[in-house]
Amino acid sequence: MKVIGIESSCDETAVAVVEDGHRLLSNVVASSMDLHAQYGGVVPEIAARSHIEAIIPTVQSALDQANCTWDDIDGIAVTYGAGLGGSLLIGVMTARTLAISKGKPLYAINHVEGHVYANFLTTTSLPTYKMPKNQPEFPLLALIVSGGHSQLVLFRNHFDYILLGQTRDDAIGEAFDKVAKIIGLPYPGGPSISKKALEGDPYAFKLPKAKLEDKYSFSFSGLKTAVLRLAQEQIGEDFTFPSTQLPERLSEAQKANIAASFQRVAIETVVDKTILAYEEFTPRSVIIAGGVAANGELRRQLSARLPIAIEYTDIKLCTDNGAMIATLGCFKALQGQPAADPYSLEIAPNLSM
Ligand code: KG4
Ligand code: ZN
Repeated sequence: MKVIGIESSCDETAVAVVEDGHRLLSNVVASSMDLHAQYGGVVPEIAARSHIEAIIPTVQSALDQANCTWDDIDGIAVTYGAGLGGSLLIGVMTARTLAISKGKPLYAINHVEGHVYANFLTTTSLPTYKMPKNQPEFPLLALIVSGGHSQLVLFRNHFDYILLGQTRDDAIGEAFDKVAKIIGLPYPGGPSISKKALEGDPYAFKLPKAKLEDKYSFSFSGLKTAVLRLAQEQIGEDFTFPSTQLPERLSEAQKANIAASFQRVAIETVVDKTILAYEEFTPRSVIIAGGVAANGELRRQLSARLPIAIEYTDIKLCTDNGAMIATLGCFKALQGQPAADPYSLEIAPNLSM
């Protein structure tokens, strides 16, 4: 069973081929990140235009890298939500057209659910991939942390899950991106904060963890504001000082200490709740998914605090990719889930889990 997965929900045009839900045959990502970096965030119109240019060559590269022709492909999986409308449209229209013209079943994939399935990939002949040795087992606790989502989900089985909690405001990746902007580190903020944090003291500053009545909910907007106030205090100014002038007034050491302290507290917040959920539900496996799952501090804290072993997938499979979409597509096909109608599948920009 070979499925090609197409992902275009944000700024990555990503296509991959996966076999039997565990073997990665190809993984090609064309990112328009460089075009967005100068604006400090993704510009939807630029992303959509870049997808139009990249999608057909990316599909072809993924087939070539997998040594496949369309005759070898058993199904097409595509992200139909959540994401940016214009971006999703390019992937979905491409997948619908290919499903009709090549006569293949079409599987509509929820992007966030897709992130979880990156952890089911265990083998590849592609160079430089570090993958888990074993597939996760059910019940499976998933911490999904990305630029758009912060969620704890308990999977009883494939396609049978409950959402334990999610963020009330910013996603954790969004908080990394915003804090990076405050202290003048480049976009995307996650990788630049974690790099800068290596030079800083994670205990240099005390920052607040949100306390919510609902035990599995997250909130990151207060932490982000606390970082802004802290940066202003550090240069002896109050809240009236324009945030755009902060980076030039902060020393490199102050930036590093702020990055390290923010990262420790943001990561502790999600790890605390993951441990709480582990104790309540005693799942057989715990996985992390989404762009922030690439974070080294998150991996370190979870491995140190979880009573069971946890395996992590390659960083290239944490940020948006087509492999996670293809993997979930394989499981949909293998488990007899209904295929989508290629003549009518619509995008769902606000899709939730
Ligand atoms: O999953 P993803 O590629 O896109 C969404 O679905 O949102 O996640 C992107 C997010 C960005 O906010 C980025 O800053 C964050 O993941 N990210 C990281 C790291 N690498 C990417 N956050 C923390 N540490 C990292 N190493
Ligand atoms: Zn994502």
